Amino acid sequence: MEIKISPEQGAKNDKYQFILQHLPALIGSETDAVANMANLVALLKESFGFFWVGFYIVKDNQLVLGPFQGPVACTRIAFGKGVCGGAWAQKKTLVVEDVHQFPGHIACSEHSKSEVVVPVFRNGEVIAVLDIDSQEFATFDSEDAVHLEKLMEWFAPYM
Ligand code: SME
Repeated sequence: MEIKISPEQGAKNDKYQFILQHLPALIGSETDAVANMANLVALLKESFGFFWVGFYIVKDNQLVLGPFQGPVACTRIAFGKGVCGGAWAQKKTLVVEDVHQFPGHIACSEHSKSEVVVPVFRNGEVIAVLDIDSQEFATFDSEDAVHLEKLMEWFAPYM
């Protein structure tokens, strides 16, 4: 897939490249999943200033809140529910330009307006999802999806 880069998108592209380049050094030899997820969400929040960044982890056939940065959030999400449960069920990244238009969206915060949710796979099964929320409409597009999927592919063994 070819991505055309405008100056603004280029800036976004550069940030993702920076994260991908510096993450190995940040993780180092750490094998603890919580520690690694915590640092990755902090790096994303610090780099982009996103409103909310966090992991929901598959446990007992539910998504359970993991390390995150941002306002307090709902702790458990059922399979297929909301954007997070939908990305899990469909095994694909969901980019939502306006959360109010997404049937079944779970509003953890009234300030959230757009969202991207990226599944994390191990042996073809979803083990977690990365959820990012924005206070603006249409913050995320296919470029974010491509970069975040690449990031999660790289990161999966460390969680
Ligand atoms: N909005 C999500 C729930 C998680 S919060 O945004 C942190 C959803 O609809 O799945």
